[in-house]
Amino acid sequence: MSEQATVRLVYASRATFEPQKNANGIEPNVARILMQSRRNNARDRIGGVLHFGDGYFFQCLEGERGLVNKVYQRIGEDPRHEDVRLLQMEQVDERKFLDWSMKYVAIESQVQRLLDQYGLSAFRPYEFNKQMIHGLLQACVAAEDPSRAEIPDSPVANRPRQSGGGFFRRLLGRG
Ligand SMILES: Cc1cc2nc3c(=O)[nH]c(=O)nc-3n(C[C@H](O)[C@H](O)[C@H](O)COP(=O)(O)O)c2cc1C
Repeated sequence: MSEQATVRLVYASRATFEPQKNANGIEPNVARILMQSRRNNARDRIGGVLHFGDGYFFQCLEGERGLVNKVYQRIGEDPRHEDVRLLQMEQVDERKFLDWSMKYVAIESQVQRLLDQYGLSAFRPYEFNKQMIHGLLQACVAAEDPSRAEIPDSPVANRPRQSGGGFFRRLLGRG
């Protein structure tokens, strides 16, 4: 696999901080992580999604192999979480989160439905098999990002592509 190949990396970890209960906002530590991620990932042409639930992180990173490996190494050294475990690493032709430097998805809605479907009472991403990882990623693609209004977008991209994108994607055979 060359360093330029596009890869999708998925990992899970456990937060070392005690999540602060906010009425309807985003956990403040997670908000800071998102801000950093959006700034750096936009620069490195990395996209993905971060999910935080029940004290666990589930993150997908997509981009050039060399750059994804670099950010994953940085993330692994971050004291805000521990027990960082790689769940999946594969070369892909298409990115699922092309339009997001780092999308944020909360546990509610689609994710809860998925847990119900697999008979899981809590979010325990270490126990996810390939099928569940795929299911959760698809749920994340479909989910709304509640942080969009709250956390400033990166200057490059952290929003769904405007309607014109669909046309160009079809033109490029990606639609
Ligand atoms: C769960 C989690 C996810 C993170 N995701 C990213 C990410 O996608 N991109 C990123 O650059 N940093 C991410 N970080 C932060 C990095 O660990 C690190 O703090 C940051 O990249 C340092 O950037 P700076 O040198 O610009 O401050 C994440 C941290 C945690 C705990």
